[in-house]
Amino acid sequence: MNGKNVLEAVDLYKFYHASDEETLALRGVNLIVPRGQIIALKGPSGSGKSTFLSCVSGIIEPDGGYVKVSGIRITRKSDARRAAIRAAKMGIMLQSDGLFDQLTVRENLIMKMWLAGNVELNRIPAMADALGISGLLRSLPSRISGGEASRAALALALITNPDILIADEPTGEVDAETEKQLIDLFEAYRKQGGTALIATHSDSLARIADRIVHLRDGRIIDEL
Ligand SMILES: Nc1ncnc2c1ncn2[C@@H]1O[C@H](COP(=O)(O)OP(=O)(O)OP(=O)(O)O)[C@@H](O)[C@H]1O
Ligand SMILES: [Mg+2]
Repeated sequence: MNGKNVLEAVDLYKFYHASDEETLALRGVNLIVPRGQIIALKGPSGSGKSTFLSCVSGIIEPDGGYVKVSGIRITRKSDARRAAIRAAKMGIMLQSDGLFDQLTVRENLIMKMWLAGNVELNRIPAMADALGISGLLRSLPSRISGGEASRAALALALITNPDILIADEPTGEVDAETEKQLIDLFEAYRKQGGTALIATHSDSLARIADRIVHLRDGRIIDEL
């Protein structure tokens, strides 16, 4: 294991079985994310981006290959072990915002830190300020706008100071103004030396990446 690499995905395969149909969603995907790099993952709908992100973050198990996060293997472990590694090491931003509706934004942030095993309340004001959500901390997610919810989701992903941020279409369902705000926030994260893997159809978001990796039919076809 090279200490510079935050994420190593080696020869990942994933099959889905739906009724008689079998889909080979990943066909031997290899990707290394060194510390401090932002990688954009592009590719047509159905090319396997979300499947790949779910495998590397331990949400699903691949059928072949393995994944290491900061040198720790996350694949071939129990659901509970994978969830613990994910909570401790990764910040995840999926299309559904990941906020619990019954908890305020602030309570969501506290629970996220609790799951990672380290509640530091003093991280909340600085994070809220950086992401422009200070006024929303006591709001329930259902009472804030979609754009605000996406900033809150990014706060939730970053509050534990993760080794890597993994985002699936973070600007997929937001208006142009919110997209610009989010891109500025990802850019600020990059400047602070953050590491990320971001699946996106947005050329403007991909532009802030250090590398763009293209997936097609479950394979990486090239790197730009
Ligand atoms: N839970 C599932 N069960 C069965 N097939 C699935 C499942 N999830 C994804 N697939 C199939 O696996 C392939 C890859 O899907 P995936 O969601 O990873 O693509 P994607 O690149 O994220 O697409 P998009 O850009 O539309 O989000 C597709 O053919 C899809 O239909
Ligand atoms: Mg997807």
